[in-house]
Amino acid sequence: MATQEIPTTGREWHLAARPAGRPVPSDFALVEAPVRQPGPGEILVRNAYLSVDPYMRGRMNDVKSYVPPFAIGAAMDGGAVGYVVASAAEGFEVGDAVLHGLGWREYATLPAAQSVKVDPELAPLSYYLGVLGMPGLTAYAGLLEVASFAEGDTVFVSGAAGAVGSLVGQIARLKGAARVIGSAGSADKVAKLVDDYGFDAAFNYKDAPVAEQLAAAAPDGIDVYFDNVGGDHLEAAIASLNPHGRVTLCGAIAQYNDTSAPAAPRNLAAAIGKRLRLQGMLVRDHAALQPQFVAEIAGWLKDGSLRYDETVVEGVENTAEAFLGLLRGDNTGKMVVKL
Ligand SMILES: NC(=O)c1ccc[n+]([C@@H]2O[C@H](COP(=O)([O-])OP(=O)(O)OC[C@H]3O[C@@H](n4cnc5c(N)ncnc54)[C@H](OP(=O)(O)O)[C@@H]3O)[C@@H](O)[C@H]2O)c1
Repeated sequence: MATQEIPTTGREWHLAARPAGRPVPSDFALVEAPVRQPGPGEILVRNAYLSVDPYMRGRMNDVKSYVPPFAIGAAMDGGAVGYVVASAAEGFEVGDAVLHGLGWREYATLPAAQSVKVDPELAPLSYYLGVLGMPGLTAYAGLLEVASFAEGDTVFVSGAAGAVGSLVGQIARLKGAARVIGSAGSADKVAKLVDDYGFDAAFNYKDAPVAEQLAAAAPDGIDVYFDNVGGDHLEAAIASLNPHGRVTLCGAIAQYNDTSAPAAPRNLAAAIGKRLRLQGMLVRDHAALQPQFVAEIAGWLKDGSLRYDETVVEGVENTAEAFLGLLRGDNTGKMVVKL
């Protein structure tokens, strides 16, 4: 077994309590835990970047969903990239960079088969948690496959300055959208959408009702709505959608902290008359697109036609705060934690 010097303990985050509504710092606990040496077929990884993602809010509730809930008093998990520091697995060497699912901690011991080797020369390591990883594939598959995007479509995306949304808008532009419109939660983000990402129009959803601002930004209506937010955004989009419009139901972050059922959209019945298609998506169904996605996105990153931002929070001790910041909108682009 190849090894390099490793401590006997490392820090990991536990869910201390199930949040009621918006999570608070006391819902999380940073715990010192033993670092386990790898058994046969396993690797020990020193994590370099941890991902915090909106779906993790759902895992803090004790409800059955497409991913199991976090257990109280146990280590949380999620996307992470890091370096192998000990290996008992064939084909994995100390120093290899890997992507895996045991985030929210400094050190992770796991079967090598549950990790994927990544190339730190090809792109910064953290990009495998964002533009070249799960959020990137969500944007790519959600627009091109789920929404059946076609050249000449007018596209509206909410959460447009975030990891998924910023890529949806840019991919639509690069693929020949007639018009790309985005919404986000601050003036700086709105300026970035137009100036840096090349959106045709953008608005701050906190300034005035979404329906009014969307109607002004899309006088000829929209053909595709990529929904990251739900609620009044979805209701406004239904109003603005042209006949045979398509909606990718990707997320509903405006409702993740709600403790009662949402009121909007109140106009869902309009989907019938307009023959709209509203389709939910899970990124895991689109793994077959991965090679095409990486090739196309990496090309655009290299020639500068795709811009990618990250908000980097430093230190494992700030992981819970990074997650709370994500729910508040502190991030532009992908929120990651650097260890
Ligand atoms: N279906 C799937 O397979 C899949 C996969 C990945 C992600 N998702 C979903 O995609 C969405 C975006 O994920 P992401 O990773 O790219 O996160 P993100 O957009 O980078 O970060 C979350 C953003 O949500 C916005 N937000 C927070 N509260 C809001 C509210 N009440 N109304 C409107 N916006 C609000 C904030 O930006 P502002 O400053 O603009 O408010 C914040 O920056 C999420 O809904 C997520 O659950 C789904």
